[in-house]
Amino acid sequence: MCGIVGYIGDKSAADILMDGLKQLEYRGYDSSGVALMETDKIDIYKAEGKLQNLNDILFMNRDKIVGSTLGIGHIRWATHGAPTVVNAHPHTCNCGGVAIVHNGIIENFKELREKLEAQGCTFRSQTDTETVAHLIAKKYSLCKDLTEAVRLASKEIDGAFALCVMHKDHPNKMVITKRNAPLLVGIGEGEFFAASDVPAIIKYTKKAVYLKDNQIATLTRDDMQIIDTDNNSIFFTPEILPWEPVALSKMGYKHFMLKEIHEQPSVVRNILAGKLHSIDSEIALDEVKLDKSTLKNLNRIQIIACGTSLHAAMVGKYIIESFCDIAVDVEASSEYIYRKTVTNENTLVIGVSQSGETADTLTAIKQSKAKGSHILIITNRPDSAMAREADSLISVNAGIEVSVAATKSYMAQLLSFYLLALKMAEVKGSLDDSLLKTLKSELMVLPQKLEQILVHKEDIQQCAKIYANTKDFIFIARGVNYPTALEGALKLKEISYINATGYPAGELKHGPIAMLDESMPVLSILMKGTVYDKILSNSEESKARNARMIALTNSTDDKLNTLFDFVIRIPEIQEYLSPLLAIVPLQLLAYYIAEFLGKDVDQPRNLAKSVTVE
Ligand code: AGP
Repeated sequence: MCGIVGYIGDKSAADILMDGLKQLEYRGYDSSGVALMETDKIDIYKAEGKLQNLNDILFMNRDKIVGSTLGIGHIRWATHGAPTVVNAHPHTCNCGGVAIVHNGIIENFKELREKLEAQGCTFRSQTDTETVAHLIAKKYSLCKDLTEAVRLASKEIDGAFALCVMHKDHPNKMVITKRNAPLLVGIGEGEFFAASDVPAIIKYTKKAVYLKDNQIATLTRDDMQIIDTDNNSIFFTPEILPWEPVALSKMGYKHFMLKEIHEQPSVVRNILAGKLHSIDSEIALDEVKLDKSTLKNLNRIQIIACGTSLHAAMVGKYIIESFCDIAVDVEASSEYIYRKTVTNENTLVIGVSQSGETADTLTAIKQSKAKGSHILIITNRPDSAMAREADSLISVNAGIEVSVAATKSYMAQLLSFYLLALKMAEVKGSLDDSLLKTLKSELMVLPQKLEQILVHKEDIQQCAKIYANTKDFIFIARGVNYPTALEGALKLKEISYINATGYPAGELKHGPIAMLDESMPVLSILMKGTVYDKILSNSEESKARNARMIALTNSTDDKLNTLFDFVIRIPEIQEYLSPLLAIVPLQLLAYYIAEFLGKDVDQPRNLAKSVTVE
């Protein structure tokens, strides 16, 4: 996590860095800081908490900083050391000559720190990053060349890093490098921009170079040179970023999350427009670069993801197995990477990630790629590190998602899985033709049904008010909606901090039912179809233990009003497709509860949108 930016040119570095950091706030918001080159020295400004706090400090120092045209900046999601000012970046060496910002984790920082302390360095912070500032300074004191100092230091560091480095003796130089963390250089006229991600630079230039692992770029106002750690010069060709600057606006909504929930019908419309033309035509999914005979003969799929993307993957497993008769395993990336996995060239590995940068998923993907598997990436960021590893790439096209809590990207991931599963079923001929047509025709009217749910959001707002003051929340479901229960619980806990858990309804009686009493809300996801009666029975069992019962249903049965204290009704839909509708009221419920409790909905505590550390 963390976001870094750098600027060298002729404009106010402070303004450009702050603008860039604002665009990277999704990567963390524990603290922030900038280092600005002044005549013969580097000035550092840092603040705890949100970026606005740093903004206030810079505003007070406006006259002092306005002339600086070289600087680096950082927004932090704390890993090593509490989110205090002293641990905030930039970090410097003891004489203040070297200043650095860092995204990633230095794994051997303890050994390095001991070594550097023995050599006389005094550490002020608890961070892993400070070791790198001292290490570069030590190297510099011997070679007096900043690029060489960074190159030598990078050879001694283990772990993941993207670094921007400046030195007080070099008012026309910034050195940057990376390994297993994103970093790109924007190329302007007489200026360069460095950043963890495109939104920080796109307002200024579309011409850019993505730095590769172990490359070191030296930026002066009119030149960029790239070398590798063995000192070989690297030839590079800038690319034109396929991005437009987007003004990130809430469009009148109180929070980005609410806006993004409301964007879901149009996200679905856009995706379907390109891929599903009629119930009689084949799904258009040319992005999947597996020939028909390979697709037909696939017998094993592994899907790897984290968090909300993992829940989309679980729905993916259910429908691929149901429609295509192919065995699918789903695993949290963080578990996958530290065990022996039976993955080989006959396995299709699907990585799912909104950001395309999640470190655990990226590592898992690289591991399976090394074993020869075909890698299919489903992501909202076709320019991401994961996308660059893909043999096949499904770009879910949800548009930029600002709120840390994923909503529209989940919808887009789900829909991508449905289209993929239907496509594979078409190729294999594994799905009954009339069911195939029913599913396609129901997908085509999905946007209108989503709109109907959003029109009735006041009901959910009312439900939120009734249950907002609970300490715990249980979501139960079965079958294709078990992941919906998990995702509903995740949404609620991440933005309201209520202890929410999703269970397969049949598992309640194997333990969790012991927690039920008159204070516990149980929300049953009751979609018409194969498991409806079973969940109804599980709801009766919960009611018998005096739980506060809520139904989320597409049934019109009035009897539900007796069993449940509150009934949220949604439009009817074929059971397989019901996760696409059922999740929306749960997103709204989480949103309204968090809003009612006065929580920071878009930037919940301790979280970051892009989790670039393992
Ligand atoms: C979603 O609401 C969460 N903030 C989080 O679980 C997220 O889904 C997870 O970190 C995975 O991110 P990714 O999709 O970008 O890989």
